[in-house]
This record gives sequence, C-alpha cells and structure tokens, in this order.
Amino acid sequence: MMTFQEQVLLGIPANLPAKKEYPTDANRAPKRKDILSNEEKQLAIRNALRYFPKEWHRELAIEFAEELNEYGRIYMYRFKPDYAIYARPISEYPANTSQAAAIMLMIQNNLDPAVAQHPEELITYGGNGAVFQNWAQYLLVMQYLATMTNEQTLHMYSGHPMGLFPSSKNAPRVIVTNGMVIPNYSKPDDWEKFNALGVSQYGQMTAGSFMYIGPQGIVHGTTITVMNAFRKILSKGENSNAKIFLTAGLGGMSGAQPKAGNIAGCITVCAEVNPKAATKRYEQGWVDVLIDNIDDLVKRVKQAKESDEVVSIAYIGNVVEVWERFDTEDIFIHVGSDQTSLHIPWTGGYYPVDISYEESNRLIREEPEVFKEKVQETLRRHATAVNKHTAKGTYFFDYGNAFLLEASRAGADVMAPNNIDFKYSSYVQDILGPMCFDYGFGPFRWVCTSGKPEDLDITDGIAAKVLQEIMENSPEEIKLQMQDNITWIKDAKKNKMVVGSQARILYADAEGRVKIAEAFNNAIAAGKIGPVVLGRDHHDVSGTDSPYRETSNIYDGSKFTADMAIHNVIGDSFRGATWVSIHNGGGVGWGEVINGGFGMLLDGTKEAEARLRSMLFYDVNNGIARRSWARNDEAIFAIKREMERTPNLKVTLPNLVEDDLLKDLFN
Ligand SMILES: NC(=O)c1ccc[n+]([C@@H]2O[C@H](COP(=O)([O-])OP(=O)(O)OC[C@H]3O[C@@H](n4cnc5c(N)ncnc54)[C@H](O)[C@@H]3O)[C@@H](O)[C@H]2O)c1
Repeated sequence: MMTFQEQVLLGIPANLPAKKEYPTDANRAPKRKDILSNEEKQLAIRNALRYFPKEWHRELAIEFAEELNEYGRIYMYRFKPDYAIYARPISEYPANTSQAAAIMLMIQNNLDPAVAQHPEELITYGGNGAVFQNWAQYLLVMQYLATMTNEQTLHMYSGHPMGLFPSSKNAPRVIVTNGMVIPNYSKPDDWEKFNALGVSQYGQMTAGSFMYIGPQGIVHGTTITVMNAFRKILSKGENSNAKIFLTAGLGGMSGAQPKAGNIAGCITVCAEVNPKAATKRYEQGWVDVLIDNIDDLVKRVKQAKESDEVVSIAYIGNVVEVWERFDTEDIFIHVGSDQTSLHIPWTGGYYPVDISYEESNRLIREEPEVFKEKVQETLRRHATAVNKHTAKGTYFFDYGNAFLLEASRAGADVMAPNNIDFKYSSYVQDILGPMCFDYGFGPFRWVCTSGKPEDLDITDGIAAKVLQEIMENSPEEIKLQMQDNITWIKDAKKNKMVVGSQARILYADAEGRVKIAEAFNNAIAAGKIGPVVLGRDHHDVSGTDSPYRETSNIYDGSKFTADMAIHNVIGDSFRGATWVSIHNGGGVGWGEVINGGFGMLLDGTKEAEARLRSMLFYDVNNGIARRSWARNDEAIFAIKREMERTPNLKVTLPNLVEDDLLKDLFN
C-alpha cells in the first residue's frame, strides 16, 4: 500500500486502476441535463480520454459513455484515490513550497466528505459548486502542486490544470478561472453544454477557489443580517428580546436562520415544509423547538413573548399559513423575510400552500403545469399576507432568494408605485451594503494549517484583542460593527461551528483585516502558532459584481458592469496573493455574477508581512472606491478616511448634483 504522499506524487497512476463501486452512503449529485447531441457526446469522450494513455482508451471510452448517459457528466469515478480526503496538517503534504502545501490542504478540505455536499462528484456546495470537473484533473493538480517550486505558477482553467509556467517568488502559485465564457454564451444551457463537454465548470464562490469553511460562514453572515435588521427598527437602547423574526427555510443556507436569531436574541419562527429538513436542524441543535400544528405554534409564540424568551421555533408547514394566521391573531412580526429556494421555483424550491408535501412532489413530476399554477397562486397569497403585516409596521426584506422577483412574475402585489422597483428592499440594499460593504466590512476568514484547535483558540484571542484596540479609536459610524465582531469572535468557540479545517470567519474592514493578519504573522514568527491561510468569501466588498446581490446597492447604472471584480483579481494577484480566482456564476446563477477571491499563506516572514499589507489593503479599498464613486455616502466617508491615513492612496471622488437641477431638464 502506497502512502498518501507517494500517491499524490504519482498523479495519474501508471497502471489503470480497477473500476470502483459507488459508495452506498454517498450523497450523489443530481443527474444533469442530457443536452449533448450524439456528435457532441463523442467530443466529450474524446476530451475526457486526452488525460490517459492510448492503451486505456477502449476500456475507458465505454465507461465514460456510460457515465455521460447515466449522469449527464463524466466524473471518472474510477480515478478517485483510495486515501482519505480531509484537511491534513500542512506538514503532511509532499511539497517543495509551503505555499503549494497550503493550497493542497484547502483543496482537501473542500472535498472532505464531512464538508462537501457531493464529494464523489467533486461538488462542495450549492448543488453544482465544483472544485474539479473530474478525478483526473484532481490527480494532476495535486501532482503539480507537490512538484512545483516557488518560481512557478499553476494555471487552472475550470478545474483543468493547463500547466506550470515559470514565474517568480512574488507571483501567485495558482491562478484559477471558473466558468469564464464569451458573454454571449452565458445562458444556463450554455453551461450545461460546456460542462458536459468537459471544458467549463461552475465554481460557485468558495468551492472552485478552495476557500469553503462549512456552515460557519453562513451563520456569521446571517447573524450580522438579522442583528442589523432589528437595529433598523429598534430605538436607541432597545433590544430584540421578545421581538419576532418570521422567515422560512431550514435547508442548506436557510438552516442558519434560527441559530442566527438566537445569537441576535429574538424569537425566531422559521417555517419548513420538509419534515426531514426541519428534524435534521433540530437534531443538530440549530433550532430549539419543533412544532407541526399551527394552533400550538400560536400558543408557543405568545408564551415566548410573555416570558421574554430567546428561542427559535421550527414550524413544520407552509410559511404562508404562519403569515396569515399571525395576522388574524394580531401577533406583531417585527422582522420578516424568506429563504425558500425561489431561484428554482418549479422544481421544489418553493412549495404551494394547502397541498401536502408528498402531493406537491407528485405534481412536480407528473403535472408540472399545475404545480407552477399552484406556486404562483401561493406567491400571491404570500405577498398579500406580508403586505398586511408591513401595513402594521413589520420590516420585511428579500433575502437574495428571488422572492420578490418570482412574486412579481406571479402578479403579486410587490411593486413600488413606479412599477420598476419592488416595494421592499433586499438584504444587501438595506443591510449588508450600507452597513457593512460600503465601510469595507466583509467575511474575512483564516485557516490554521497546523490543524490544531489550540492554534485556532490563539488566533481567536489575537483577533479579539486587535479589534478591541481598533474600536477604542473608531468613529461613531462603525462602532456598532466593531462591537458585533468582537462579540462574535469572543463567542466563536462556544458556537461550535468548526467542521473540517480549523477555520474562523470574522467580518472586518481593511484596517481590521490588515492588523489581525500582521498580528498572526508575528505570532507565527514567534513560534506561538503554525502557518495561517487567509482568505474570504467572495460575497464581499470588492470581489463580486452581482447586480441583484453584492452590488445591488449601486445606483449609478454601473451595477451590470464587472470591472470591479476583474480589477480585484488582477490587483490581488500582483500584490502578493498565494492564489487568486475569478468565476462566472456563484449564488445567483451562471451569467448573473462575476466573483473572485484569494488565498494567502502567512508563514511568519517579513515577505509575508509586506504581501499582506499591500494585498489586503487593496482587496478592500478597491470596492470602497467603486462604491464611493457610485455616490454611496458610507463609502465616501470610508474612502476619505482611508485617504487621510494613507497619503499614497488617491481616489477619484464624485461631485454630488442637486436634485432640483435635473428635475426639469427633459420635460
Ligand atoms: N443565507 C444566505 O446568506 C443567502 C444569501 C443569498 C441568497 N440566499 C438564498 O436563500 C435560498 C435558500 O437557500 P438554501 O441553501 O437554504 O436552499 P434549500 O433549498 O436548501 O432550502 C430551502 C428550504 O425551503 C423550504 N421551503 C420551500 N418552500 C417552502 C414554503 N412555502 N414554506 C416553508 N418552507 C419552504 C424547502 O423545503 C427547503 O428546505 C436560496 O435561494 C439562496 O440563493 C441565501
């Protein structure tokens, strides 16, 4: 039996490995669309076989054709290695450079069965967020990383390693692109086709960039959102005790809502039609109470209000029932939202009211047109019930799940008087944009490559201390954000969110990110902790152009441009990132967003210190500059403040125009 290191160095094995049985306990990726013509299928097989010697072609051609017919893709299951895949400590990888070893660690984490959604198909999350298209790409990339020097760069095209090219010590070790296509060929079916041909992939955000850290990231982001949603409606000094947050969905991302509600200190009512999803979250301890009867729900909520309880309640049933019943019962909802999967409304993302879960699933398969009508009818009822509550003072926001978009398409009453905008704003327009991104706060994260929980504890302590020091001199505008982040990091361990690598997420602005990273680098130099990988979610200040999400609070007409994301990845790459990535798709769908990220290894050296200062500064301030040019007040404040501190920074500032001057120009 070869060791892990020997197998990695081997790349594609010299002898054809035996065909494998598919593991019975694996969560298999859904069968993809059968979209290729017979001629194109031949091309897909020809493409797949170019990874292997001719002698194997006859046998593999038949097997790959079977995979293509059966699953719509060629995953090359036979080549999945036999060793366990998980984030081993950095010292366990065969490597000439610790930067490459760090990247291997992050790849291993993204494919760890405890972390990844469909590990056999190399999918980390979101149903289609791929790290690689097939196992041959995985084997080659690991081999390239194991053999490369720190004067080479590995260029990866949608999972495929094009190869190692000579570069320099200061260049990134890996450049990743995922799903980059000519804009005219960026419709969902184009992706289906290119992916089936084996020439492109959907990297989501942190899947294809090796930066996924499990549910922790989503819990923190949701907590920030829920806390700030309450702040929008509470008067100074008031807290969210005994106040109600009503929402729906206990799935992949939505399942974080009750946990976030508990951290924010409110009463969360979260409806979920799928009893299995609700029970899973209950058993995981992510929601406190399970109730499947609406009368009991009303009683329990009233009781929680009377006793000032912080509690999260899952209602197993349709969320529309709750919105309607709370109206007739006159239960005041302070904050309302929805996280059903309305980005896929016709295939089970959103369930119609008054029809059982089983019957709905039958309709999806057997009578899709009837199902669609029922969904649209429900959306109209849903919006009407929400409107009744907002008329009484409820604050409702769209959670980036296309609720308002689909409700409007169903003819529901959700349009603003101008008939262009929606009545309600999205979470980025109202909350994350102005309160976080415009000031530079975003989901910074780090991974302790020693794999030791003690290292993570030390980094938590360092980060808390740094933030505390910064907060003492913070301007009023960002004091609350600083306080939230200090509270989060102090409780981070208690929330027990680590799955896979020893990782932590923390919303921080440019100053916070740079100072925390410097302090980590010093601790590494002093031998207190092992090397640390820095990174972030792409759902951030600068890395992502996405008109209905990250850049939905850009109002100068530029939200459909993607210059910011492209500048970011280029700018990060020559300022010291260890690896960079740029993706088409991610979160809101193929063709709808361009998003990028980075990874950076801190090894305690002076060079690492110079890199982190230069790159983290740009990685945040690029987006603030763009948000400021779009006339966002908070970003204008933040970039002016940064220019005062950093004389070398000269950003073009907008001149504001009086409304009166424009009013009569074109009448
Ligand atoms: N959490 C975030 O930060 C965030 C950010 C942006 C967008 N989103 C969006 O939120 C949505 C949810 O994501 P997810 O990963 O949780 O999806 P998911 O499909 O795993 O979960 C959605 C859940 O909603 C339930 N559901 C559907 N219709 C319902 C109804 N009428 N009443 C009650 N429950 C119902 C489903 O059974 C499912 O379990 C997606 O559209 C996603 O893009 C989330």
